[in-house]
Amino acid sequence: MSIRLAPSILSADFSALGRDIDAITRGGADQVHVDVMDGHFVPNLTIGVPVVRSLRKATSLPLDVHLMITDPDRFIEPFIDAGANLVSVHVEVLPHLHRTIGLIKKLGAQAGVVLNPSTPVGAIAEVAADVDFVLVMSVNPGFGGQVFIPRSLAKIRAVRALLDAAGNTTAPIEVDGGVDLVTVAPVVEAGGDWLVAGQAVFGAGNPEAAARALKDAALHAARGGRR
Ligand code: DX5
Ligand code: ZN
Repeated sequence: MSIRLAPSILSADFSALGRDIDAITRGGADQVHVDVMDGHFVPNLTIGVPVVRSLRKATSLPLDVHLMITDPDRFIEPFIDAGANLVSVHVEVLPHLHRTIGLIKKLGAQAGVVLNPSTPVGAIAEVAADVDFVLVMSVNPGFGGQVFIPRSLAKIRAVRALLDAAGNTTAPIEVDGGVDLVTVAPVVEAGGDWLVAGQAVFGAGNPEAAARALKDAALHAARGGRR
């Protein structure tokens, strides 16, 4: 599985998104992580379809849209029409998760399912063969800049085992929350493939250098680690 860096624009400068995306592109970002929050499922509001449509014009990188909203089924088509390439939905709000995964794929995007820190891995057992990727939340969603929850490492391993047992050996695991230069190596060693990072990329003033350093650390861990 190849490593991908997915900077989260949640911590970017919203008045200069084009500039910030150019910077992370130069720094080696592989996809742009877009955090959509509705003030219901999570206690914060962010951005919606029009911003994704504008981002589509600003970058050729895949747009990785993480829907932290109570009714994702209503918005999947508008987000994909606007240019989302990857769409991830939370298992906690979807009674018909299998149908939702099918809808995302039918509309031409890659389908991811997301697990909150308190959601057991078994919640995705019945769809493990169907997903294109799994997103493990390593903080409680809602805000950037939170501290990585150490228990997430065991969860990443358990998700890998579940996907492999279902025969879905090629589905990557995305890890989101508190990924930085300290936590990235253990995350990669545990089986994290796609690394979301907000504060670690945009928090220190030079997103290009920060993205490059984080990606280098991830690649180094993937080469030298236990995977
Ligand atoms: C949290 C979001 C994350 C967040 C990550 O609710 O889903 O994508 O922006 O930010 P950091 O890397 O700062 O924890
Ligand atoms: Zn996210």
